[in-house]
Amino acid sequence: MNPKMSASTVILIAMLTLPGMISAKGKSRLKGAGVTRENVGTVDGRGVDLYTLTNVHGLETKIMSYGGIVVSLRVPDRRGAFDDVVLGFDTLDTYVESTPYFGALIGRYGNRIGKGRFILNGVEYKLAINNGENSLHGGVKGFDKVIWNGRSRKTMNGPALELTYLSRDGEEGYPGNLSVKVIYTLTNHDELKIDYFATTDKDTVVNLTHHSYFNLAGEGNGDILNHRLSIAANYFTPVDAGSIPTGEFRNVKGTPFDFMGQATIGARINQDDEQLKLGNGYDHNFVLNGKTGQLQQVATVLEDTTGRMMEVWTTEPGMQFYTGNFLDGALTGKGGKVYQRRFGFCLETQHYPDSPNKPNFPSTVLRKGQRYRSTTSYRFMVRKTA
Ligand code: BGC
Repeated sequence: MNPKMSASTVILIAMLTLPGMISAKGKSRLKGAGVTRENVGTVDGRGVDLYTLTNVHGLETKIMSYGGIVVSLRVPDRRGAFDDVVLGFDTLDTYVESTPYFGALIGRYGNRIGKGRFILNGVEYKLAINNGENSLHGGVKGFDKVIWNGRSRKTMNGPALELTYLSRDGEEGYPGNLSVKVIYTLTNHDELKIDYFATTDKDTVVNLTHHSYFNLAGEGNGDILNHRLSIAANYFTPVDAGSIPTGEFRNVKGTPFDFMGQATIGARINQDDEQLKLGNGYDHNFVLNGKTGQLQQVATVLEDTTGRMMEVWTTEPGMQFYTGNFLDGALTGKGGKVYQRRFGFCLETQHYPDSPNKPNFPSTVLRKGQRYRSTTSYRFMVRKTA
């Protein structure tokens, strides 16, 4: 043993080599760009792979075939020091036991469908109920809990991982065999780009999203209340006590939901506001300005102490801004860090919650023969001066 190694270094090295471990902390070294794959265990007798994508600037993400989960995402700060900016766990087993959707792909329907029911072509479909009386994030076993088929790819744009999954007719109550493809690319422009594709053999509803909890100061390094956020949305969709949209489009002006200019996430989060109380903080769909179907910048987040910045770009009409209100210190995350309330924020690009029951919302119906297509990109950069 190297006598200069401290006891904590020895423990850290031992931890990194334990079987079943899927994340590693510490300063990342610039390695060759590309994709590597390793097996990290099994779920229901099927092998689960962990893919490591590294781009030309040394940014690195680890993504599992289980749930399409982004396990880690390492990006530099203004001094060039890398840290992991997404919440998650150290082992596959922890993800399987229980997770608030850390880093997962969400489907067949992101966010809630009221009472887990909707009518399509005159037929009522009853979905798996898993959130009060509602269906949340695809039901009891959504796309976040299935094993995807993975294939690594090297593209002109950067290393990529293609994930495919066939969701059978009737799965979680949804009609139609839905064939889904998601491509994660860690581009050489320092974006985690997510391209979604789907087709169905029977009319159905689809709303796919991604559920990373970000903390630009590094996961586990405190709450996200001082992050500065802007969202290009003049309206949001208020909710009822079950977090189902009422159908109203409410102007953000004069409310704590106005992020048209830059504001810290925490500045108004505890205000005496009916909607903030119903959401336990921010847990609302923002109606994005601009044209659906065109990739446009819809949000910017800045963390002052590290200078890390993230832009969100999407083709979607909406985005759920969720402030980790239900994290309560019960979960121990990577490296033994305890995740307290509001230690992460999510910006989940999407169609609006409960659209199948809201005729005035943009439609989430995918007809037989049509192609579902959606793109979202989380782009990282730094601000040099504090
Ligand atoms: C929802 C929250 C929910 C969370 C689950 C978010 O997308 O809007 O209400 O608690 O996901 O972790």
